Amino acid sequence: MLKIAVLVSGSGSNLQSIIDACESGSINAAVKIVVSDRKEAFGLERAKRKGIRAEFLDSKSFSSREEHEKACAALIDSEGCGLICLAGYMRLVTGWFVRKYPGKIMNIHPALLPSFPGAHAHRDVLAYGAKVSGCTVHFVDEEMDSGPIIIQTSVRVFEGDTEETLGKRVLEQEHKAYPEAIKLFSEGRLEILGRKVIVR
Ligand code: GRF
Repeated sequence: MLKIAVLVSGSGSNLQSIIDACESGSINAAVKIVVSDRKEAFGLERAKRKGIRAEFLDSKSFSSREEHEKACAALIDSEGCGLICLAGYMRLVTGWFVRKYPGKIMNIHPALLPSFPGAHAHRDVLAYGAKVSGCTVHFVDEEMDSGPIIIQTSVRVFEGDTEETLGKRVLEQEHKAYPEAIKLFSEGRLEILGRKVIVR
């Protein structure tokens, strides 16, 4: 069975959708560890409630980003995880981390990449006047929000939408798309060919 590590910084609603999909048996996988760079992240609480190992790694306690990631990797490896899911993890991972886990790190972004990367996707979508947004699950490479795309789901942007209303509509899709991408991965159906992900 696939063992998953989930990295969070905040609420962890995507983490919850992954845990729920594992528990219900719709994915043959288990979340073995949740690591947060923020002590107050509710994602840690969600993990504890499910009896999942929850660890806080304060980046300020380490001399560099890489040292912080080495500690994170040690935790991930101690649980034998074969997939790392970034779920609202607000840190950019280093090349060292990406190269350590080739094709084994996923992220979810709340817009249709390559449009609107970065930390304020909904604000940027609304400011631009886009009529469609959505979410993207992708493999992580060394750039921000740029790796090969696994799944995208679109939602309409309505007149009068706010960051909150659009964000809520997108988040509903995120909670379906992330488990679906993990399911495909767990079944060995994802092949990365250059920029493209082929779904077998
Ligand atoms: C999600 O919109 C995710 O796409 C983005 O940050 C948000 C995290 O939400 N990267 P949650 O912590 O999973 O509830």
